[in-house]
Amino acid sequence: MTNKVIESISGIRVIKANANENITEEEINHLIARKEDAEYKSQLYSEMIAPISEFVGIVSLITIVFIARAIFADRIASFSAILLTYLLVLMRLLPLISQLNNLRSNFAKNSSAVDLVIDFLSRENKPFMGDGEIQYTALKEKIEFKDLTFAYPGYENQVIKSVNLSIPKGTTLALVGGSGAGKSTLADLLPRFYDVSSGCIMIDGISLQDYDLKSLRMKMGIVSQDTFLFNDTARANIAYGRPDATEDEVIKAAQRANAYEFIIKLPQGFDTIVGDRGVMLSGGQRQRISIARALLRDPDILILDEATSALDTVSERLVQQAIDDLSRDRTTLVIAHRLSTIQKADQIAVMEQGRVVEVGTHEELLSKGAYYSRLYEMQFHGEKSKPLQDDEELNCLAD
Ligand SMILES: Nc1ncnc2c1ncn2[C@@H]1O[C@H](COP(=O)(O)OP(=O)(O)OP(=O)(O)O)[C@@H](O)[C@H]1O
Ligand SMILES: [Mg+2]
Repeated sequence: MTNKVIESISGIRVIKANANENITEEEINHLIARKEDAEYKSQLYSEMIAPISEFVGIVSLITIVFIARAIFADRIASFSAILLTYLLVLMRLLPLISQLNNLRSNFAKNSSAVDLVIDFLSRENKPFMGDGEIQYTALKEKIEFKDLTFAYPGYENQVIKSVNLSIPKGTTLALVGGSGAGKSTLADLLPRFYDVSSGCIMIDGISLQDYDLKSLRMKMGIVSQDTFLFNDTARANIAYGRPDATEDEVIKAAQRANAYEFIIKLPQGFDTIVGDRGVMLSGGQRQRISIARALLRDPDILILDEATSALDTVSERLVQQAIDDLSRDRTTLVIAHRLSTIQKADQIAVMEQGRVVEVGTHEELLSKGAYYSRLYEMQFHGEKSKPLQDDEELNCLAD
């Protein structure tokens, strides 16, 4: 019931948008009725324990007295002292027994919660990541994906199949491909959100699993597909990855992510609380804050999963410039649906159903005339737009 109520509150917009209030209310009412029923039964049984055990106790006492009288009729005078002591002890024990019974019913009542906690704490039913010893300091040569295969824990279906890729230091690899092709999954494997099923990811010839996880993630800046902001100030959200950052650095990062302008217009500027998950901001604003967060970390390896997808064209171009600047001397894995944003990448890998079907530069892939060029054709014929070239045009748009 609690799950359903929480889900309904957080999904209230979807419920209202689909005019499903009545159905949801009915479902919740049904769950409440079931809970009420269960509570009633549990209360009833636990209240019955005391009278029943008392009744049974008294009946057994009387029975013992009668049986004793029948069996020891001839010696009743000498035996009565022992019997009396025995009965007294029994009488004193009875309340303790009913207390034990009450405890048992309390146990039963809480057992479902206990089951949940035990399941949560159990180490057997979930994968645990081992941590390596090697401290990661900086990328020296390259990142390699070697014959990588991956299925989500508990699922049969392989989401990544035999992927071989290499990202030399300081270059950008762009992943493109249809929805569900496995791009985000591949990007999630690099910071070890999951461990690969077979094959391996090597950084400078050392398997990812041999690195100390924390030192590795410290050097990565990640802007993921669904941005997450904490219910805190804009400043705290930007500085989340580097709480020691100075005010100046936070402002610079915000400016580079094209977020400064809108943040200072918020009611309390950088001190404005952005609400649960950042509800008080627009999708593009949230995205810019999370880009600023990644920029502030000054990462060695940058992972951008659809980082600019929610921005308008002008903001996207401006943020793209900042990202281009930033990724110039950094190793970057970028995922984009809009091909205009990744044309300058050193390598573009096209993914289809978990496989990398093509790798090359923009020009190479276009001249090949296969997957990428088809994607490109579709987008640019569909949009009938050409990428902006010069800064003048950009500045004029920004004004
Ligand atoms: N947590 C998960 N558990 C199980 N399967 C998952 C999980 N996340 C994704 N998948 C499956 O993995 C496949 C690849 O998903 P992924 O998110 O990597 O796609 P994508 O290429 O990033 O797509 P998009 O462009 O829509 O973001 C999908 O078929 C999806 O069903
Ligand atoms: Mg994705």
